[in-house]
Amino acid sequence: MYKMLKIRNFLGRSSQLRSFTSQSKPQLNEISLLGQNFARDDYTNITDKICSYLGMNIYLDQNHPLSLVRQRIVNYVYKTFTKSRGNPVFSVFDRLSPVVSTNQNFDSLLIPKDHPSRSKSDCYYVNRDYLLRAHMTAHQNELLRAGLNNFLMIGDVYRRDEIDRTHFPVFHQIDAVRLKTKDELFETKALSIFEEGANEAFTSDQGKQACHSLEAVKLMEYELKETLVGLAKTLFGDEIQYRWVDVYFPFTQPSWELEVHYDNNWMEILGCGIMQQRILSNAGVTEKIGWAFGLGLERIAMCLYQIPDIRLFWSKDTGFLNQFKTADINSKITYIPVSQYPQCKNDLSFWLPENGDFSSNDFYDIARSVGEDLVEQIELVDDFKHPKTGKRSHCYRITYRHMEKTLTQADVNLVHKKIEEAVKNVGAVVR
Ligand code: PHE
Repeated sequence: MYKMLKIRNFLGRSSQLRSFTSQSKPQLNEISLLGQNFARDDYTNITDKICSYLGMNIYLDQNHPLSLVRQRIVNYVYKTFTKSRGNPVFSVFDRLSPVVSTNQNFDSLLIPKDHPSRSKSDCYYVNRDYLLRAHMTAHQNELLRAGLNNFLMIGDVYRRDEIDRTHFPVFHQIDAVRLKTKDELFETKALSIFEEGANEAFTSDQGKQACHSLEAVKLMEYELKETLVGLAKTLFGDEIQYRWVDVYFPFTQPSWELEVHYDNNWMEILGCGIMQQRILSNAGVTEKIGWAFGLGLERIAMCLYQIPDIRLFWSKDTGFLNQFKTADINSKITYIPVSQYPQCKNDLSFWLPENGDFSSNDFYDIARSVGEDLVEQIELVDDFKHPKTGKRSHCYRITYRHMEKTLTQADVNLVHKKIEEAVKNVGAVVR
């Protein structure tokens, strides 16, 4: 939850894109993403495999489990905040392009230049200036600039990460922002949002921002937490046990995570906080205070429906999808595994390229790109440095499993061989 990103005013996007060329056929050194061409450079690390997920929009497919969770959350927010005639206060943006600038993903959210979440080994960069958004918060600034006060941002997000049952490089988030004026916050004219004479500078503690009055922060915190506990109860039931944990995000202060007790585990389901006032003022918003939250859809859907593996969300198999065909999005569904096919494990050892330019995440990407979604897990089982030559070698244990059929060792060997060839191509020497 601590890896974050930012946006640009979408109205003026094309004029601001230095590395953006045109809608014409991509040149050799260009990548075409959702109809726009981008120049490659030394930052480019998106793979064709990852690009193939762009525009799939599974979270919008009517009966997809992620779509059911999305609709339940949107309905809850619509119902919780209504205008006097009963119509919803919040606007929903669920078709924003996942290709964002580094300014949108990071700078506009006050993420420091040296913050680890910016690193090439954590993000899918299109080039130095553009990347696949790593969180929906990347769109906060552009929507604030557009003058919105209450809005939800929903879509696919992209992060380079380990491979296991709960991590996949593409997942889905819902982010929310709610701004309030002094009159919307207080019943009495005597109170104010801002502390007389204080500025927006950072203080490092979990406490309030210096510029805010304690009354304003406490009322916002109360509404935020009430809203989110209400959401957790709507999804998981009134009996759900929960707890608040103090955390740090660059774009909110104070900040919290909500954890719910599920299946004998404390599970973190969302991050939230009082928005940094500097983000509001940079976006031209004055005289308002805001709260924001962000949550991941996969984790919630995996718990609600007892879906054991995150790759299932990408299944086209009707054995999976048909279990979520329902006329009532609130109905209780428990996923029944179509069958459990056996795993197959193979090891791969190689000397790392000697230029030192290799991270485990590079290997995970290669395995993902050529592994045809058969790669269920990868574990680094040996990291060896030769005492004399200083050369390093890694050994990875790759667990293969097909979601829909039993794999033979011969099937696996073919794929394993392909991964082996692919690591040779990046300068590794297979042992
Ligand atoms: N962007 C954060 C994440 O990806 C979640 C978040 C959103 C936290 C808004 C605080 C406020 O984990």
